[in-house]
Amino acid sequence: MEQKRSGFTGKLGFVLAAAGSAVGLGNIWRFPYLAAKYGGGMFLLVYIILAVTFGFALMVAEIAIGRKTQLSAISAFSKLNKKFSFLGYVASIVPVIILPYYSVIGGWVTKYLAAFCSGQTAQAAQDDYFGNFISSTGEPILYFAIFLGLTALVVLFGVEKGIEKVSKFMMPVLVVLSVGIAIYSACLPGALDGVVYYIKPDFSKFSITTVVAAMGQLFYSMSLAMGIMITYGSYMKKDVSIESSTRQISLFDTGIAFFAGLMIIPAVFSFSGGDESALGQGPGLMFVTLPKVFNSMAGGNIIGAVFFLLVLLAALTSSISLMETIVSIFIDKFKIKRIPACLAVLAVSVALGLVSTLGYGIWSEVKIIGMQFLDFFDFISNSVIMPIVALITCIVVGYVIKPKAIIEEVETGNVKFKAKKLFVVMIKYIAPICILVILASSVLGAFGVISI
Ligand code: PHE
Repeated sequence: MEQKRSGFTGKLGFVLAAAGSAVGLGNIWRFPYLAAKYGGGMFLLVYIILAVTFGFALMVAEIAIGRKTQLSAISAFSKLNKKFSFLGYVASIVPVIILPYYSVIGGWVTKYLAAFCSGQTAQAAQDDYFGNFISSTGEPILYFAIFLGLTALVVLFGVEKGIEKVSKFMMPVLVVLSVGIAIYSACLPGALDGVVYYIKPDFSKFSITTVVAAMGQLFYSMSLAMGIMITYGSYMKKDVSIESSTRQISLFDTGIAFFAGLMIIPAVFSFSGGDESALGQGPGLMFVTLPKVFNSMAGGNIIGAVFFLLVLLAALTSSISLMETIVSIFIDKFKIKRIPACLAVLAVSVALGLVSTLGYGIWSEVKIIGMQFLDFFDFISNSVIMPIVALITCIVVGYVIKPKAIIEEVETGNVKFKAKKLFVVMIKYIAPICILVILASSVLGAFGVISI
C-alpha cells in the first residue's frame, strides 16, 4: 500500500472520498433508530454537541497523524511511539468486526430495492414483512452474499475510482431526495408530534445511556477510532486545510443523518397513531417505516426504488472502504498478494456475517450478554473497542507526542488553526475523561453490574 500512495487531487477530492466512507448506513439506518429509541431531541442535541467538540478534535487528530506519518493506522502509531504500536492493531480489529454485519444490513437494503423494483410496495409496507424476512434463512443469506460479493468485486478489481465517480454524482441526489421525503413525512397526519419529539430536547430523557449511544454513533458515523481517517489523511496533500475539510465532512455527515431522522421518526408517529413503543424497535425501524411512507405517496414505488438504490450505493462506498482497509492491512502485515488477501477477508466476513443473519432467524434463542449476534458485534465495536481506541489516541496526542505536533501539521503551509484552543482542551482533558466515564458505564451496564 505504501508504494502506491497516490494522493487525492485536491481538497474536494479528499472531502468527497472521506465523506463517501463516512456517509452510509450509519446515517440512514442507524442514526434514526437510535434517536427514536434514546429520547429524540435529547439524543439529537447530545449528538450535535459531541460532533462539534469530540468528533471534530478526533477527526483532526486522525487526519493529521496520517498526513504527518504518511502511513496507514497499523504502522502510523508505531512510528509516533514504539510503545503504542498495539493501538494500530486494536484499531484494525474494528473494521473486521463491522464489515460482516454491515453487509448483512446492506443485504436488507438490497432486498428492499428488489422488492420496490418488482412493484411489491404494498407488501413491503405490511407490518410483518420485515420480521418475516429477517427471521427466514435463505433470503437474508442470499442478499447478504450479493452485497458482500459486490463489495468484494470492487475491492478485488481495484475499481474504487469508478465507484467514487458514481457516488460523487449520486450523493447530491441522495441529499435532495432525503430532504424531499423528510418534508413529505413531516406533513403526514399526526406526524407533527414526531417532529417535535425529534427536534425539541426533553431534558427528562437525558441519561448516561443517551450519551453512550450518541458517542458510539459518532465514531461509527464519522468512521473514527478505527484508523480509516488516518489512512485517508496519509493520502492528503500538504496544502489542503485539515480543519476546514473536517468541518465539511462532519457537516455533510451530520446533515444526512439529521434528514434521515426527519424522514423516519415523524412517520413512525403518524403510522403508529402516536404509540411511543413503536419508537424502540431498534435496527428494523427504517425497514418497517419507510415502505409505509412510500406506499402512501403517489408514485411511491418509483421514489422508493430510487431511494433504496441510492442508499445501497452509499452503503457500498462505506463497505468498500471497510474492506479496502482490512485488505491493505493483510497485504502489509502478512506480505500476501491482493487476491489471497481479498479471499481471506471474504472468508472471515462470510463466517461472521452468517452468524449475524442466523442470529435473527433460527439462532434467535442464542444470546451473548443478552444480545443477538448482530447487536453484539455492533455493541462490542461501537461501545467498547472504538472508545478504547479513541481514549488511547487522546492520550498519545495529548501527552506523548503532544498537541503541538498535530497543531504544526494542521498549520503546515501557513494555514491558521482556528479552533486550536478547543482542540487542545478536548484532546487533553474533556475527551479522555468523558470517554472513560462512558466506557465504564457501557461495559458495566452490559454486564448488568449497574443499570443504565
Ligand atoms: N461511517 C459509515 C457509515 O456511517 C460506516 C463505516 C464505518 C464505514 C467505518 C467505514 C468505516 O455508514
